[in-house]
Amino acid sequence: MPEELIAVLDFGGQYSHLITRRIRECEVYADLMPYTAKPRELMEANAKGIVLSGGPASVYDDNAPKCDPEIFNLGVPVLGICYGLQVMVQMLGGHVKATKHHEYGKTKLEIRDNSDLFRGVGTQIVSWMSHGDYAEALPKNFDVTATSENCPTAAIRDHGRKLYGVQFHPEVSHTEHGNDIIRNFTAITNCRTSWNPHSIIESAVNGIKAQIGNENVLCAVSGGVDSTTAAVLVHMAVGSSLTCMFVNHGLLRQNEEKRILKTLGEDLGMNVQYVDASDQFLQRLKGIRDPEEKRKVVGEEFIKVFEEESKKLGTFEWLAQGTLYPDVIESAGTGSPASRIKTHHNVGGVPEWSRFKIVEPLRLLYKDEVRKIASELGLPDSIVRTHPFPGPGLAVRIVGEVTEDKLRVCRHASAIIEDELSKNGLYDNVWQAFAIVGDDVAVGVLGDQRQLGRIITIRIIKSSDGMTADWARIPYEILEVISNRITGEVQGVTWVTYAISSKPPSTIEPC
Ligand code: XMP
Repeated sequence: MPEELIAVLDFGGQYSHLITRRIRECEVYADLMPYTAKPRELMEANAKGIVLSGGPASVYDDNAPKCDPEIFNLGVPVLGICYGLQVMVQMLGGHVKATKHHEYGKTKLEIRDNSDLFRGVGTQIVSWMSHGDYAEALPKNFDVTATSENCPTAAIRDHGRKLYGVQFHPEVSHTEHGNDIIRNFTAITNCRTSWNPHSIIESAVNGIKAQIGNENVLCAVSGGVDSTTAAVLVHMAVGSSLTCMFVNHGLLRQNEEKRILKTLGEDLGMNVQYVDASDQFLQRLKGIRDPEEKRKVVGEEFIKVFEEESKKLGTFEWLAQGTLYPDVIESAGTGSPASRIKTHHNVGGVPEWSRFKIVEPLRLLYKDEVRKIASELGLPDSIVRTHPFPGPGLAVRIVGEVTEDKLRVCRHASAIIEDELSKNGLYDNVWQAFAIVGDDVAVGVLGDQRQLGRIITIRIIKSSDGMTADWARIPYEILEVISNRITGEVQGVTWVTYAISSKPPSTIEPC
């Protein structure tokens, strides 16, 4: 944990993680904490600044969440955002009232003062608003620094005590100069700017060394950016005390095992033990059609294989896992329900009764930070920029029973989709892109004859975190090439369709 930080107190707003990430983009470490954090805890963590997040409550609700009032007396700059502003106003003796006109969406702001929070921002910006209440009367020593048509107190401050409030959301990309406003706050706090890939790597490696000493570590790698980055960091810290295990469950993408083994073993020089358990997994999956049952079987089988094979490899005291910050926050129960990023029963996880001690080199990091670190570590694009791939692999993209033939079709068609997106410079613009194969068939001309063949569904979606998703508006010309290639190159396919359902109500994976 860095020596200094800005604490983001979470009042349950949907943007709490986003605020934390935006502060970190200014190279200042930010930690998301519960709104109930005690002043003593904040001082022990060496908080140089405090942000009060937005939240769904109204300060007048019964049981409206309130922070400890002593927080305003710590001599540390505070920034209240939306509900955070209102809570600060009410707790310091001002008055919050319901507006007649709810403000929602893009709203013009008139900036009155450019000397601190709005330095370099100009006199008019578009901001993102979402509020029903506003500060009608300000506490003593506060003045107004920005207004909007329906909110005369869109930004306020107590200059002497360095207490700031904004009714809008600077963390949301729709707010012009939002990043400048957050950067100005980080400058006001004087918090150390050392949160960059170089120093993150240095402190992670030192931390792992101190934690593990001379003991042995095992790491399950999947070829994804998280497990690979975690393994590389551990490798830098303990070298040959690390053994990686890569289990092929037979549900991987085309040529994936070759690519992963080459990158991790040959290119990065890590000790990777390859376990080909594909037959065993496919055998267990026989006859199973229910999506959750398939996930369960893959998860259970993975643990079994992992336990058996790890015993053969020697004695390991530690298991390295690529757990990320949002999951750590969720399991600690400090994050708001709204910030929950959907996590699934992950293949690669180990049961609680596991005999290992756990080391989690990425536990302070967001996904985008992991990608930056992976780049800094020199990992290839095929790992840094690869789309997320679910633990149960193609089992969640094959509707109904998983068979060799469906796997062949799914792999080949997915490779064509990825290839065409890459050729057209679209791969990095989408969250995931793959083929779905079920049991549906339709008549087409295969060879010279009218014959039943498989129907393939293309799924290409845009998303920022997998929680919600929209289908990607891929140009027809590209879809046409993909369709022609699939029917032409993948044996036994007669029809190709494009999935135009967003999440919600659909999910990203079909099962
Ligand atoms: P859904 O289909 O729930 O997917 O909209 C949201 C995101 O989660 C991934 N996903 C999984 N990841 N194990 C995983 O590790 C799973 O069982 C699983 N199911 C879905 C999915 O790829 C998408 O990015």
